[in-house]
Amino acid sequence: MQGLTASSQLSLAVVFAVFLLGSADAAHGLTRVVSSSSDEPCNEMTLYYHDILYNGVNNTRNATSAAATKPTALSTTHWKNGTYFGTLVVFNDPMTVGKALPVAGEEPAARAQGFYFYDKQESYTSWFGFSIVFNSTAHKGTMNLVGADLMDDKTRDLSVVGGTGDFFMARGIATLRLDASEGTVYFRLQMDIKLYECYV
Ligand SMILES: *[C@@H]1O[C@H](CO)[C@@H](O)[C@H](O)[C@H]1NC(C)=O
Ligand SMILES: *[C@@H]1O[C@H](CO)[C@@H](O)[C@H](O)[C@H]1NC(C)=O
Ligand SMILES: *[C@@H]1O[C@H](CO)[C@@H](O)[C@H](O)[C@H]1NC(C)=O
Ligand SMILES: *[C@@H]1O[C@H](CO)[C@@H](O)[C@H](O)[C@H]1NC(C)=O
Repeated sequence: MQGLTASSQLSLAVVFAVFLLGSADAAHGLTRVVSSSSDEPCNEMTLYYHDILYNGVNNTRNATSAAATKPTALSTTHWKNGTYFGTLVVFNDPMTVGKALPVAGEEPAARAQGFYFYDKQESYTSWFGFSIVFNSTAHKGTMNLVGADLMDDKTRDLSVVGGTGDFFMARGIATLRLDASEGTVYFRLQMDIKLYECYV
């Protein structure tokens, strides 16, 4: 700012203030609601996550996820039963309100876009990082989730670390449970999502 005169510094400050006001306005004067009890989320929903893994043969059209890496040598040499340690799977999976997969041509309630990787030698555990992308008449926006999927536990909690659009700055917990599986090509998770910080 050295070369600027006092008056141009002032007008820059004004421009900056207007810019800040402008971005506050972009949030449409939302009110932050923080829940004070785990029993009283400010928003909640249940969605089913359908992971249809590419089988390497004949489900190219239907597959919504695929292994992007092979298991590490550590996984395959030491453990004969293989726990996929090091395998990373990338997905663009449909999410639905009911348990059924969307019928052909029907848009799912949302899509889960991201990855999981297997991260334990001795047994199956994984780690998820993904966005739930909503683009329907009901919701537009994203919710971003991360966390350990401790598959030995009946239910596992992921963190909702943020969101955009209808879920602007959302935070909460998503509780996962395996709802169905078919060999190594399909599994369905029930995700109970509870938000404890909402902007409404
Ligand atoms: C794909 O191949 C598997 C294994 O051979 C078979 O069970 C399945 O019916 C096939 N699916 C289709 C849609 O062809
Ligand atoms: C793909 O899905 C359709 C409809 O769900 C099903 O009819 C078809 O058999 C599936 N194809 C494969 C290759 O799995
Ligand atoms: C793999 O085998 C080891 C023993 O060889 C066992 O401790 C472990 O539980 C097995 N893991 C799975 C996922 O079956
Ligand atoms: C969202 O939906 C609209 C209207 O159906 C469509 O035009 C648009 O391409 C979709 N966006 C994404 C990212 O899928």
